[in-house]
Amino acid sequence: MPIINRIAEFADDVKAWRRDLHEHPELLFDVNRTAGIVADKLRSFGCDEVVEGIGRTGVVGVIKGRQTASGKVIGLRADMDALPILETTGVDYASKTPGKMHACGHDGHTAMLLGAARYLAETRNFDGTAIVIFQPAEEGGGGGREMVNDGMMERFGIAEVFGMHNAPGLPVGAFAIRKGPIMAAADTYDIHITGRGSHAAMPHQAIDPIVIGSQIVQALQTIVARNIDPLDSCVVSTTMFRAGDTHNVIPQTAHLCGTIRTLKADTRVYVAKRVKEIAEGIAALHGAKATVEISDGYPVTVNHDSPTDFAVGVARQVAGKERVMDDIMPLMGAEDFSYMLEARPGAFIFIGAGNTAGLHHPAYDFNDEISPLGMSYWARLVETAMPARA
Ligand code: NI
Repeated sequence: MPIINRIAEFADDVKAWRRDLHEHPELLFDVNRTAGIVADKLRSFGCDEVVEGIGRTGVVGVIKGRQTASGKVIGLRADMDALPILETTGVDYASKTPGKMHACGHDGHTAMLLGAARYLAETRNFDGTAIVIFQPAEEGGGGGREMVNDGMMERFGIAEVFGMHNAPGLPVGAFAIRKGPIMAAADTYDIHITGRGSHAAMPHQAIDPIVIGSQIVQALQTIVARNIDPLDSCVVSTTMFRAGDTHNVIPQTAHLCGTIRTLKADTRVYVAKRVKEIAEGIAALHGAKATVEISDGYPVTVNHDSPTDFAVGVARQVAGKERVMDDIMPLMGAEDFSYMLEARPGAFIFIGAGNTAGLHHPAYDFNDEISPLGMSYWARLVETAMPARA
């Protein structure tokens, strides 16, 4: 696979950066150490501009090509935050903070984009401007949305954005992508049922929120089975059911919560409506009351057609034609790069991480072997999108 030689030369540096980030995981927007390191390194590479504090703790680096007459500006995005998980890898660079770990490989994403920035700032072999974007709070905090809302796209004149995530189970050396929806919208629901408590031996005096809640859990399954087109995709999972405290009391209330994953905007709206109707309807049937709150999470991550074709071409340059899958099934996980793709055209690609533990697993560790390939993808993407003139 044609890794860029210069990038291969400093792959060990990038591995050391990655392992340092791995030892010092930070959550959500509290990525101060990580963001500080990113900003320092970008300055040391000679980026034309480095701006901190975008979207609270995001960092943006500006790298102008040898020429800029094309006027093109392309954004490359990595995420910096870790997860609240107790690491079990046993590696010598394991997290030094019990209960926090880089279990999604954002340490690797950050290190790879830093490596690409170093190469691009050193070679500048393009006509245009590359913007490297390091975002906080991908894991549920909406850091990508914060950076967009902070005016990042306009401020740096970004015309197109690209994202990359490592994928355990996909072979090392491979890339995978698709046009259109590639990751799902992730919304949540909270259902509060109020019935009537009583002695457990006198159930006729109660309106039992546990029996009602059980029926709601079952009936919610009919949304996917009976309301959604079998060729569309949707997940409705009740993930929490809290009620009662002891054996001999029928409680007054129950609380259910769960997640809704969809790949289409209209399905997303429809499922939320059905969750509400089902919960309220079943509660009413029994003389109880259900209040339903649906909270919007990340929207669908939608890859734009022509940037996806372009990304496929770049990945094939780096990995070889056969090693790039261009029409994978979408994943029902969510990504807040979706907000950047709502703001600008672009594409999100997966890079194979090989046979590692799964994402968000306590034994997961980013595979450093793939970094030179990921960095070469970033570098070639810039050089191909904005070719330097002789
Ligand atoms: Ni991730």
